[in-house]
Amino acid sequence: MRKVRHLIEPTDFTIKELEDLFELADLIIENPRKYSRQCDGKILVTLFYEPSTRTRFSFEAAMMRLGGNILGFSDPNSSSTAKGENILDTIRIVSGYADIAVMRHPVEGGPKAASLYSKIPVINAGDGGHQHPTQTLTDLYTIRSKFGRLDNLKIGICGDLKYGRTTHSLVKAMSRYENNTFSFISPEELKMPAYICDELNRNGGDQYKEFRTIEDAIGDVDILYMTRIQRERFSDLEMYERVKDSCILTTDKMKLAGENMIVLHPLPRVNEIHPDVDADERACYFQQAENGMYVRMSLLMLLLDETGDFYNGKVLPVNDSMTSVVEMDECRNPKCITGYEPSLKQRFITYGDGTKVCDYCGAVLEKYCTGDK
Ligand code: CP
Repeated sequence: MRKVRHLIEPTDFTIKELEDLFELADLIIENPRKYSRQCDGKILVTLFYEPSTRTRFSFEAAMMRLGGNILGFSDPNSSSTAKGENILDTIRIVSGYADIAVMRHPVEGGPKAASLYSKIPVINAGDGGHQHPTQTLTDLYTIRSKFGRLDNLKIGICGDLKYGRTTHSLVKAMSRYENNTFSFISPEELKMPAYICDELNRNGGDQYKEFRTIEDAIGDVDILYMTRIQRERFSDLEMYERVKDSCILTTDKMKLAGENMIVLHPLPRVNEIHPDVDADERACYFQQAENGMYVRMSLLMLLLDETGDFYNGKVLPVNDSMTSVVEMDECRNPKCITGYEPSLKQRFITYGDGTKVCDYCGAVLEKYCTGDK
């Protein structure tokens, strides 16, 4: 059976595999020429159904720096999507043309659904307000570079925690390391979704606290992860207007932070970090964006090396998943891909406490009955 591994969720790789990936990124940065023919003859296809600067360009640059080639679209209207083709057929087709696919999609679980129909590795480059695992690789790599570790850290996460896929993925990833704690800073309307908090609660202990202002939290964090309030995710634009300026980092607020604290941001930013903060040595977001290319070079190499350690003992058969079951229940999240692709089978993961979670979008089945994810 053909070996295929995908990256859909930030927890799809073990901690050991993540460390291997980061060590390879270190080596690439030290000696990029050594890796310049590593993906000779390989083709990356980028399927971007939503705008992007960093993720798409860094993936494309990564493949070019490894000696491979790229094809794809940045606007789905320039593809047969405009004629009504669904993502399941699109991935079936392009997986005959390319060796690895990167997909960004506005619907939660879109890349997961595509991976079930793909002959080649599919990388989730962001699915609606759900997850953004390669941003998380970038974030973790940057944190590891700055602190020399990924455990025993206090992580402040600020802004749009409700729709912010980068924040969801970061929490999932960092909560796997020992003694990390989270300060969630947001207006009430943009709180971290219950399904993420439930996961932390399942881990036990007081892993997170909630704050309404940056000032209340900034003095007691090692990392302040800022995010944009995302206008495009709001169905209620009045609510957007009400909350859009609620969390803005300024040089005055930076005076309340520790001297070794770092500021990260997945970018793009609008007004949530004042440009004067850029000159502060603790502002690491531009370095973070550059790291993204090296981490993605490492990721492409590992996912394309079907004979390497990355595949040993973790061979996933095509069109199946080892962790989930197919059931007759229906996901009730209106933003889930199952509502858009009628041919998709419902898939749920059932946890030990009986909680049933949609395998595509992460929505908790019972909670959605009350409108809460
Ligand atoms: N961080 C991030 O995903 O940026 P882009 O939307 O520009 O890809």
